[in-house]
Amino acid sequence: MALVGLENNNLKLIIFGGKGGVGKTSCAIAAALALSENFKTLLISTDPAHSVSDCLEQQIGFHVQEVTGHKNLSAIEVIAEEALSRFKAEHQNALKKLLATSTNLDNDDIDEMLSLSIPGIDEVMSFKTIIDFIEEGKYDKYVVDTAPTGHALRLISSPKLLDDWIKVAARMRWKYRYMITSFSGTYHQDDVDTFLLNLKKTVKRIENLLKDKNKCQFIPVCIPEAMAIMETSRLLKDLSNAEIIPQQIIVNHVMISEEGAFCKQKKAAQFKYIKEITETFSDLNRIEIPEFAEEIKGQNALNQLKNCLF
Ligand SMILES: Nc1ncnc2c1ncn2[C@@H]1O[C@H](COP(=O)(O)OP(=O)(O)OP(=O)(O)O)[C@@H](O)[C@H]1O
Ligand SMILES: [Mg+2]
Repeated sequence: MALVGLENNNLKLIIFGGKGGVGKTSCAIAAALALSENFKTLLISTDPAHSVSDCLEQQIGFHVQEVTGHKNLSAIEVIAEEALSRFKAEHQNALKKLLATSTNLDNDDIDEMLSLSIPGIDEVMSFKTIIDFIEEGKYDKYVVDTAPTGHALRLISSPKLLDDWIKVAARMRWKYRYMITSFSGTYHQDDVDTFLLNLKKTVKRIENLLKDKNKCQFIPVCIPEAMAIMETSRLLKDLSNAEIIPQQIIVNHVMISEEGAFCKQKKAAQFKYIKEITETFSDLNRIEIPEFAEEIKGQNALNQLKNCLF
C-alpha cells in the first residue's frame, strides 16, 4: 500500500515519529520530495542530530532555504534549545515581572529561577515556530522529522505541561491582582497578563492542530523487530491519550530478497514480526518499505524510497 491522504488540501502538517534509527528522517525527506511535486512544501527537522543535512547532502540550518534542484521544497532546522533562547530573550521582562510581583524572590533568585527550564517550554517553542510557519501560510505542506520516540512524545505532551505551568502562574498572578485591586480599587491588565494570555493561546492552537486529523497526520515508522513493535505500541497509546490518532504506519527495512543464506534467514526472522505488526496495528493503513542494498542518502536513493511510499 501507499501513504494515503497526504495530498488532501486541508492536510497541512505531517509528523514522522518512532524509535531511534528506524527511518523517520529518510521517510520524512522522501515524503517531502514527493509532496513538493504538487505542493509548496517545507521540511522541518526538530532533530538536533542534523541528519536531514546528511541525507539531503545539503547543509540545512536555522533559516529556511530552498533544497537544491527542488524549487517547491524548502527546509529548516528548528531546535528546541534555540527556540527557547529566542523565547526567553523576547519575554525576559515579562517573566521577571511575573516572578517579582507574585513571589518573595529577590533579583538574584529570579535570575536563577529564569535560568531553570519551565517544563515543556522548549518543545512548545519548537512547536510554536512550526505553527507560526503554518499560520504564515507560505507553504501548502509542512513535513516534520522528529528525534526518536521520547522526543516526539515530549513534543506532543508539551502543550499539556506548559498549560499546567500557566495555570500555576495565573494563580500566582491572581493573588497579586487581588492585592492591587484591594488597595487601589482598580486593576489594569499589564504586559505579564498579556504574556500569559498569549502563551495560553499558543498552547490551545498547538493542541487544536494536533488533534485535527484533517489538518495533521502523525505517521509512526516501525521495523519488524520486537523492541520496535513494543515501542510503537507505547507511542500509539500515548498519542491516543493525547487524542492524536494515526491513520497509517510505515514498516521499514522489510527483507524482500531470498537470495543467499543471510537474506533467507532475515526474511524468515521478520515473518512473525510482520504478522504481529499486521495484527497489532490492524486499524492502520500499512506501508512496507524494503531493505535497500545501500543507505538512503542523496537523490537517487531518496527517489527510490519516494516511489515505495507513494
Ligand atoms: N529501507 C532502508 N534500507 C536501507 N537503509 C535504510 C532504510 N531506511 C533507512 N535506512 C538507513 O538507516 C539509517 C537510519 O535511517 P534514518 O536516519 O532515516 O532513521 P531515523 O529514524 O531518522 O534515525 P534517528 O532516530 O537517529 O533520527 C540511515 O543510514 C538510512 O540511510
Ligand atoms: Mg532521524
